[in-house]
This record gives sequence, C-alpha cells and structure tokens, in this order.
Amino acid sequence: MAARLSVSLLLLLATAALAGVQGLGVNWGTQASHPLPPKVVVQLLRDNGIKKVKLFETNFDAMSALAGSGIEVMLAIPNNMLHDIAGDSGAAKDWVKRNVKRFDFDGGVVIKYVAVGNEPFLAAYNGKFIKVTLPALENIQNALNDAGVGDRIKATVPLNADVYNSPAKNPVPSAGRFRNEISGVMTDIVKFLAKNKAPFTVNIYPFLSLYLNDNFPLDFAFFDGKSATPVNDNGVIYTNVFEANFDTLVAALVAIGHGDMPIIVGEVGWPTDGDRRAKASYAQRFYDGLLKRLASNRGTPARPSQRLEVYLFGLVDEDQKSVQPGSFERHWGIFRYDGQPKFAMDLSGQGRNTTLVPAKGVRYLSRTWCALNPKASRNDLGKLLGAKIDYACTNADCTPLGYGSTCNGMDVKGNASYAFNAYYQAQSQKDEACDFQGLALPTETDPSTAACNFTIQIATSTAAPPLGMAALAAALVVALLQLLLWW
Ligand SMILES: *[C@@H]1O[C@H](CO)[C@@H](O)[C@H](O)[C@H]1NC(C)=O
Ligand SMILES: *[C@@H]1O[C@H](CO)[C@@H](O)[C@H](O)[C@H]1NC(C)=O
Ligand SMILES: *[C@@H]1O[C@H](CO)[C@@H](O)[C@H](O)[C@H]1NC(C)=O
Repeated sequence: MAARLSVSLLLLLATAALAGVQGLGVNWGTQASHPLPPKVVVQLLRDNGIKKVKLFETNFDAMSALAGSGIEVMLAIPNNMLHDIAGDSGAAKDWVKRNVKRFDFDGGVVIKYVAVGNEPFLAAYNGKFIKVTLPALENIQNALNDAGVGDRIKATVPLNADVYNSPAKNPVPSAGRFRNEISGVMTDIVKFLAKNKAPFTVNIYPFLSLYLNDNFPLDFAFFDGKSATPVNDNGVIYTNVFEANFDTLVAALVAIGHGDMPIIVGEVGWPTDGDRRAKASYAQRFYDGLLKRLASNRGTPARPSQRLEVYLFGLVDEDQKSVQPGSFERHWGIFRYDGQPKFAMDLSGQGRNTTLVPAKGVRYLSRTWCALNPKASRNDLGKLLGAKIDYACTNADCTPLGYGSTCNGMDVKGNASYAFNAYYQAQSQKDEACDFQGLALPTETDPSTAACNFTIQIATSTAAPPLGMAALAAALVVALLQLLLWW
C-alpha cells in the first residue's frame, strides 16, 4: 500500500515537474529547409508540457498533428492575404470555413485565436498594410461570429512593440502612447477588439532593444534585477525593459480609454547565434529570468493582477528566415533545427538546472559532410573559391560564420568548408551539391570544432521504403478486393 502510494505520488510529482508555467506558449515557425515533421513537433510540445502554440499560417499537416492533442492553438493569416480578406467578407468566411470550422470539432484542434497578419505595421512595410489590417480583422471576427464560434475564438492582430512609444522628453512607461501616424487606426482596432472581448497581442524583444542601441544597458535586458540604471517612473521602479515595455502599452491603452484590455505577448525570446549578443549563455539567462517571472504569477506594476500570457519565440531554428533584420534571425529556437535543446531551461520557472526533453524519432541524413577538397589546385582556389563560397552562402545558411557568431574566426579554408557543407546539407546531400567545380569533396570525418558545428541535416522526406514481396502481394490482394467491391 505504502509502496503503491509513493509510486502514484512520484507519478504526480513527475507530471507536475513536466508542466510549464501557466500561460506559456511557443511560436512554431517553419521557414526551414528541413522542417521537423509536424508529428515530431507535437510530441515535442507534449513531452515538454507546452500547452499553447502559435502558428504563422494554417498548415494542414500541422493542424492534423495537433488534432486531439489538447494543445491550444493560435492560427494565423499571413500579411500577404490581408488585402484579399479586407476587401471581401466572402473570402473571410471561406477562410474561416477551410481553416477554423474544418478542425473545430470534439477531438479536433483547440483553436483559441486567429492572428490576423503578423506585425503588419512594422516600419519596414512602409505602411503597406495600414489600410487593410482593420477591415481584415473585422471580416474575420465577423465570419467567426457568423459561424457561431465567435464567443470561443477571437481574432487579434500580433503587433510589434513599435506601434507605441514613450515620448523622448518623458521616456517612462506611464507616458506611453500609440505612434502618432497610426494612432487613429490603432484606436479603431482597440475599439473593435474590445467590442468582441478579444485581447491585444504584442511582440516584445529585449534582445532587439540591445541590438539596435549600443548605449542600451545590458543588464536592463534581463530579469535578474542587476540593472544599475533602473527606470524610475514617478516612484515605480523598473529593472527590466520587458516590464517597462509592457507597461508602456498599458499606458497607451489607458490613454484611449481601454486600460483594462487583456494583453497577450505574442513573441518574446532570445537568439543564440548570428551576433555577439546572440549567444546561448545570454539566452539561458534571459529565459531563466522570464520563466521565474512568469511562475511568480505577478503582473506588471501597471497591471498587478493580470497574469502574463506569453508565447516564446521560437520553438526551433529556421534556416530560411530572411536575415534582413540581422543574422540572428535564423537562431531564435529554444531547440536547434533538429529538436535538440540548446541550453538548460526549466519551463516550470523554478530555475532548476534541467534540460528540455529532446525531439523523439528524428531521422538524420547519413553522417557525411562536404568540405574543401584538399587536392584542389592553388590556381583553382584563387580563381573560383570566392564565387563558390558566395553561391553556397546565398543558397544556404552561413550566418554562424559572421562576426560574433559561433564559427567566426576560421581561416578561408574553414570558411569554405563550412559554406560547402551548409549548401550540401540544405540540398539533402545530393551528390552534385558537393562538387563546386572540383573544389569540394564529401567526407565522413566531422569537421566540427568545440564551438562550431558543421551540421548534418534531418531527413524529412516521407518516401515509403520499397515494398518487400510479401507486402507487395498483400497490396495486390487489397487492390483486387477493392476492385471487386467496386464492381
Ligand atoms: C547543470 O548541469 C550540467 C549537466 O548536468 C552541468 O554540467 C552544469 O555544470 C550544471 N550547471 C550548474 C549551474 O549547476
Ligand atoms: C569567413 O567568413 C566571414 C563571414 O562571411 C568573414 O567575415 C571572414 O572574414 C571570413 N574569413 C576569412 C579568413 O576569409
Ligand atoms: C552539433 O551537432 C550534433 C548533431 O549534428 C549534435 O549532436 C551536437 O550536440 C551539436 N553540438 C553543438 C555544440 O551544438
């Protein structure tokens, strides 16, 4: 009896340890040359006790894998669909039918939100989506309402924190206002969200505050209260930029009469490569603080009673993301591209030295790398190497080679091997992808160093293995039976 009791107690404890902090979700992006299979990803989420996920589109395979998992989902409509959906309520209805209704049944996908666009007011878009975002939001929420699911499923717009600011003269959170040139449309969006009891969704990136401003105090990006330069907002002390940023939004909402609107943090995280401040040790420190902060169940100074709800960005590295914002863009994952954890992380927010559960059932390509051919002639190297490296790096991910990154500081031969291997793996180790006019050769010797990983890609093809004779015979019988039944 005692033994049995302690066994169930242990099981209980094990389950408790697995559960992430309440309100914790992750962003599942798939801009990778070899994305992990959706079933593997869903198992990875479950194994780590992650109960919410945010997508950037609606992908049938991802939705099928999520069905029955109980994981709460925020679906998304990409920016390039906003024009069509804004201009045509029929298109919105159709989208809801194909992407929401289809999966919304008992045992299907638990859909909580539809994200309309992704940071559509980002300065980089030059105002392209300013006119269409609100009409698209309206059409989608109205379509959800018409479909009878509007009380459970809310449309929202994930916005970058650059939609608001605190004036330069008075840079404290309580002075937060929506940016002048979009304050009209922001007010209308907030009114519409409020009418439908939908939340405001904002992406907050302390890493970018640091990256974009050389004078930004490093410690203010983290949560350990070490900041030598806290912000004093009329007696309220902010020791980290995350809370200061969040409360700047609260002030902007208060200023337009919606201070009580629920806020979801749609993206927050720290990258691990591609910049001198994008490193695993900082990411570990950032998440440690963030998760402890979430586990405390406290709100922010301006919202003491709203428990924070955040989606980490992101789940896995994506080697095909645009590097226009910076080389770190491809390294936001709390897992590597192959679902291996990168650093110690305790999702329960207790700060224990634990690692995440790695992805299960991941198949790799063969242990073959592509490297500089040691027999390549000096003449060929001189003539061709630069252009070949450029070609490889334009078509594959070489961001770890840059300044401050994990593979920086190799000689030109090391660079060439890294580039050739990156290309060869991105091309799924096709023979012709490791030639470069004779400059490259496949090798079974791992060129990796302690700091720099020459990766092997994962196998993503679902090509069926060749049928054996018995299976072939069985398949024939089944086909024949089906034919008979048909007739
Ligand atoms: C965490 O655990 C790892 C492996 O078990 C160990 O190498 C490391 O030193 C530990 N770190 C701390 C801070 O205890
Ligand atoms: C290796 O590549 C990186 C990134 O392109 C570059 O900064 C560095 O100068 C290269 N090193 C050599 C020795 O060419
Ligand atoms: C390098 O990659 C291999 C798999 O390709 C992985 O097992 C290993 O942990 C990686 N090492 C580092 C330092 O990331």
